[in-house]
Amino acid sequence: MISLETKLFGIKLDCIFNASGPLCTSEEELYNLEKSFSGAVLTKSCTIDPRKGNPEPRYFDTEWGSINSMGLPNLGYQFYSEMASKISNKPYIVSVSGMTPDDNISILEHLNCVDGVSAIELNLSCPNLIGKPQMAYDFKETDDFLYRICKDLRKPLGVKLPPYFDSVHFQKMADILNNYPISFVTCINSIGNGLVIDPHSESVVIKPKSGFGGIGGDFIKPTALANVRMFSKLLNCDISVIGCGGIKSGWDAFEHILCGASAVQIGTQLWKEGIGCFERISNELKLIMEEKGYQFVKDFRGKLKEI
Ligand code: DHB
Repeated sequence: MISLETKLFGIKLDCIFNASGPLCTSEEELYNLEKSFSGAVLTKSCTIDPRKGNPEPRYFDTEWGSINSMGLPNLGYQFYSEMASKISNKPYIVSVSGMTPDDNISILEHLNCVDGVSAIELNLSCPNLIGKPQMAYDFKETDDFLYRICKDLRKPLGVKLPPYFDSVHFQKMADILNNYPISFVTCINSIGNGLVIDPHSESVVIKPKSGFGGIGGDFIKPTALANVRMFSKLLNCDISVIGCGGIKSGWDAFEHILCGASAVQIGTQLWKEGIGCFERISNELKLIMEEKGYQFVKDFRGKLKEI
């Protein structure tokens, strides 16, 4: 029997689940994820207060992927905290993206004590807030912030990182993360502040931020793989890497795992295909493993050959 089981923060789960963002905001969406073949239920990044997000249109599909500038529409952390007792069949991970470091501290303090929250994914990389930089591009601020939150940590903590493009930056961020009791990092968030335009109408395709937004889909896979690979080499072995970026098939998931991912998340493809993508991609990955003679994820995880 081929198994997609993996272990994250001490819990066994199937290795393919949703990225924070698509179809994980409302109660109905979270229940649908629980019923689907997703290995876990990960929420939309939450803030202290509910938010409507940026003006529409704020998401646009292209044949190679997507651009979005949602602006953190979410129902507020109390709602995601209350859902913890209602999602009982799968690991329930709450993504947190407060508007300020102090907001994040308050949300984490609260979630630390909520039964049914399996883990927290702290989003240090939202590119779509007007006037707010992505925290994980500021190494000192990230270090200071992790120091504050890790003092009283009572839940497994993961960090969602933006893509890095420079070897020095990989090393700097890994050196910081290695100092803290972090359970996992998720690589990568969308490539921030791309621009998709329509030459026929001579216009941008989304309204917020003059059309600038986070890019997901096929084009970001090489960057995602590079980040997964680099961080799996540089991080302490007790920090798992979760791959995210450009996964729409079993082969894409296989590549992420080969680069070192212990699990993978589906973002743009979930927007496009809906929750059926988990069963399809899982079946495709199992077929690949069968053909290659691999029974478990650990049989090929991180085993990319270098020539
Ligand atoms: C949003 C986008 C992101 O990439 C993210 O990490 C969090 C929120 C958004 O615009 O809603």
